[in-house]
Amino acid sequence: MPRVHITFPPPDGVRRRLAEEQWDLTWSDTPDGQPRSDMLADVAGCDAVITLLTDRVDEEFLDAAGPQLRVVANDAVGTDNLDLPALRRRGVAASNTPEVLDAATAEIALGLVLATSRRIAEADRFVRTGTPWQWRTDLFVGRDLAGATLGIVGLGRIGLAVAHRAAAFGMRVIATPTRSGAAEAARRGIDLLPLEELLGAADVVSLHCPLTEETRHLIGARELALIGPEGILVNTARGPVVDEQALVTALTDGTLGAAGLDVYEDEPRVPAPLRELPNVVALPHIGSAGRTTRERMAQLAVDNVRAVLGGGDPVTPV
Ligand code: GLV
Repeated sequence: MPRVHITFPPPDGVRRRLAEEQWDLTWSDTPDGQPRSDMLADVAGCDAVITLLTDRVDEEFLDAAGPQLRVVANDAVGTDNLDLPALRRRGVAASNTPEVLDAATAEIALGLVLATSRRIAEADRFVRTGTPWQWRTDLFVGRDLAGATLGIVGLGRIGLAVAHRAAAFGMRVIATPTRSGAAEAARRGIDLLPLEELLGAADVVSLHCPLTEETRHLIGARELALIGPEGILVNTARGPVVDEQALVTALTDGTLGAAGLDVYEDEPRVPAPLRELPNVVALPHIGSAGRTTRERMAQLAVDNVRAVLGGGDPVTPV
């Protein structure tokens, strides 16, 4: 029987189906990620491992697993935790979980767009702290989304799901050019602009590109200044796409209007200013945290393992 390890507790629905697999299966009961040393011990001798985005799959991991390892199925759409060249060198297949989390991530992105532009989190804190108030014309006046321009950086599946929802709010949508998205953009009336032009034209900028060497610190001081003092940045992609130090400075000195963040450069560390500034809405990386979505992600990871152990290619290879 092939040996399979899952580095987290699978959702209940997936557990029921896992019971039907002819695998020598183990999983970790730590939903917050398995301690590295435990994980390295548990993957020893495995044919397949299902990993979280917090698990670093590098040479050390691959050495610990051993040469029989055939597939690493990442339970995430992002693959920046995987050393893909090392996996390729060793002939180990890799997969991710695209599509199944598009809507859930777009919902959180739109939630951050709404919360920052209409100052929802700030107003909620105001009420909770018992501040005396009465209706007045200048209470938490924010930016109307209807008629505002949303700039999407990375018009892939999630970017398109965000565009679709933003259009329902009456936003004009623009995006940076993509190889695959041009026809879809034209069909949906999304104008494609180079990054700098987009940053200058958008009221709200939402990031949906993967983290790669090309996109690391794609948004730095200059780019934040282009978004401007009335502008809003939303990041549900990966923290290091934004230079976090530059972001803190821009939010503190007013170069940037506000930020809605689900991801950070050095998770789970959130720099104190991002926790304290009133013009920041900060979430703990919950973009894909819908019950159905999480079940679909884990099931897709299992399907990828089954496909490779059955002698085929992953269903959603990377
Ligand atoms: C979440 O961040 C993912 O990559 O799935």
